[in-house]
Amino acid sequence: MSRPRVLSGVQPTGALHLGNWLGAIRNWVELQESHETFFCVVDLHAITTPHNPGKLASETLSTAALYMACGIDPSKSTIFVQSHIPAHSELCWILNCVTPLNWLERMIQFKEKAIKQGDNVSVGLLDYPVLMAADILLYDADFVPVGEDQKQHLELARNIAQQRINSRFKEVEKDLLKIPKPMIIKNGSRVMSLSDGLKKMSKSDDNDNSRINLLDPPELICKKIKRAKTDSYIGLEFGNPLRPEAENLLGMYAILSGKSNAVAQQECLEMGWGKFKPLLNDAATSALKPIQEKYKELMENRDHLNLVLKNGRIKAEQTAQKNLTRIRNALGFLPEK
Ligand code: TYM
Repeated sequence: MSRPRVLSGVQPTGALHLGNWLGAIRNWVELQESHETFFCVVDLHAITTPHNPGKLASETLSTAALYMACGIDPSKSTIFVQSHIPAHSELCWILNCVTPLNWLERMIQFKEKAIKQGDNVSVGLLDYPVLMAADILLYDADFVPVGEDQKQHLELARNIAQQRINSRFKEVEKDLLKIPKPMIIKNGSRVMSLSDGLKKMSKSDDNDNSRINLLDPPELICKKIKRAKTDSYIGLEFGNPLRPEAENLLGMYAILSGKSNAVAQQECLEMGWGKFKPLLNDAATSALKPIQEKYKELMENRDHLNLVLKNGRIKAEQTAQKNLTRIRNALGFLPEK
């Protein structure tokens, strides 16, 4: 019997941070043991806000290397670059033609990013979730492992597939598109900023001290943790709505040190911040050390990385093309002869 299929991706915009790892990539690593897994570097999404053309290629390669450094194994998972497979853009266009404009205008992430862009909001930014739906629907994905912030985009992909495609276009006796389900990890799906426990840790935050990047050297991690916002209580605890920073940093500590929330809380219940922070620092630097070492090794052999992405493209393209042809046929396009 075939294994359920999983697809996910990260944008190659700047450095990947702890949120990307704990909320998404960490989950992918486990899933590759039991699922058929496709992981793409979503470079077309990375140009929906102004980007640096001199950096896009290197950041795309570096993101793929980070997937592998975090434990994505190319012999188990298909790793590829979104723009290498034109079917993503073609399906996006098809989905654009059936998606109501007001569904997109409602998207929280669009509204947040649009405010930052001022007058310079592109059609691409509005269309971001439709391209994401195309990424997922093109591969008949059963599950999409993402952080909490992507839930609304997933809901949109499901609605497009169900209400705008399957209800209108059919393959004989069969629904045209599979309806994907989000897969959101229990702990780590919403890692918050170091400088504000109520704000999501984000690549686009102007303040680099608000996040721990996966490639930050130990001294920098130490500095960022030292500066992280605290409160005036003694003892770290979960579940106190007045203490978002305690919730966030203790949660981070639990995952990074491989302890359950209960064990971590017990350990830190009477600890002041001054004692807790070095503990968090040790947990973060030791968890990131093997990733950073592996990353360095991978980046020293670009030929190998390029080969992984080429093999990934070949494999992903087979599935993508097969599904795109089915979709084109169901929509009534004249087949190529
Ligand atoms: P991106 O690059 O913004 O985020 C990549 C993944 O990291 C998760 N994430 C977080 N998780 C926990 N805490 C945080 N602070 C945090 N910040 C980010 C995101 O939820 C995401 O899972 N739109 C996607 C990229 C994408 C995609 C797809 C994903 C494009 N096509 C198809 C799945 C399937 C995104 O958020 O990228």
